[in-house]
Amino acid sequence: MAKLIVDSEYLKDVDKARRELRALISNKNCAPIMLRLAWHDAGTYDVNTKTGGPNGSIRNEEEYTHGANSGLKIALDFCEAVKSKCPRITYADLYQLAGVVAVEVTGGPTINFVPGRKDSKISPKEGRLPDAKKGVPHLKDVFYRMGLSDKEIVALSGAHTLGRAHPERSGFDGPWTKEPLKFDNSYFQELLKGESEGLLKLPTDVALLDVPEFRHYVELYAKDEDTFFKDYAESHKKLSELGFSPA
Ligand code: HEM
Repeated sequence: MAKLIVDSEYLKDVDKARRELRALISNKNCAPIMLRLAWHDAGTYDVNTKTGGPNGSIRNEEEYTHGANSGLKIALDFCEAVKSKCPRITYADLYQLAGVVAVEVTGGPTINFVPGRKDSKISPKEGRLPDAKKGVPHLKDVFYRMGLSDKEIVALSGAHTLGRAHPERSGFDGPWTKEPLKFDNSYFQELLKGESEGLLKLPTDVALLDVPEFRHYVELYAKDEDTFFKDYAESHKKLSELGFSPA
């Protein structure tokens, strides 16, 4: 992804957008859907063709109407309110900043945010994001295509510490953890506990227990929150910069 000129005026808008996002996310309790928006803009990246990625293309109707993005128009509209107050910031930067702020305000690790992503009007074809009904080979196919590793798959899956599934959006129902507005390592603890009344486990969540190269990290993160936070922050930064080389 091409770079953008980040001058002092641009940085002022980034600071303002950060403050606006903090207020909006706390007022509306919308951290989970803002994080999902950031992930779905970035997670279309293809390391071989260098297409997709965190380039704001999810704002195109053609893309936000993809089945995997069901419900995300709500988050796009929240971001539009911020964009109107800080017009210089690109959508690509705004969505990634929203993801970073969502993790921070819910008690998660600080993620280093580097601005300068350019917006794209070109949307990838449908089908690049993971299908929750599938297993290990699919997870690996999709995340390796982005250029991410086994460890990063597990760390990033820990984002399901936040939020819930909505039957009218994905067909799944319920939160993964008992406190879905708190970013912590409880996603991994619940995963190891197995079935729990009222809590959700997607087939792709359970798949993290199936092979040792994933399960190793599930066990580590369940017992060591500091390591989870460190690995999550690094993986999230990488996800937010796929195809982007900061100045
Ligand atoms: C929600 C699938 C990875 C963040 C969801 C939902 C599904 C899903 C089906 C429910 C959507 C709804 O009904 O509203 C998957 C699959 C993944 C994956 C198959 C493959 C590993 C990730 C990653 C992140 C993430 C890497 C962020 C780094 C979230 C969040 C929600 C969510 C925060 C809650 C949204 C809300 O409460 O509105 N995911 N996801 N997911 N996902 Fe994932």
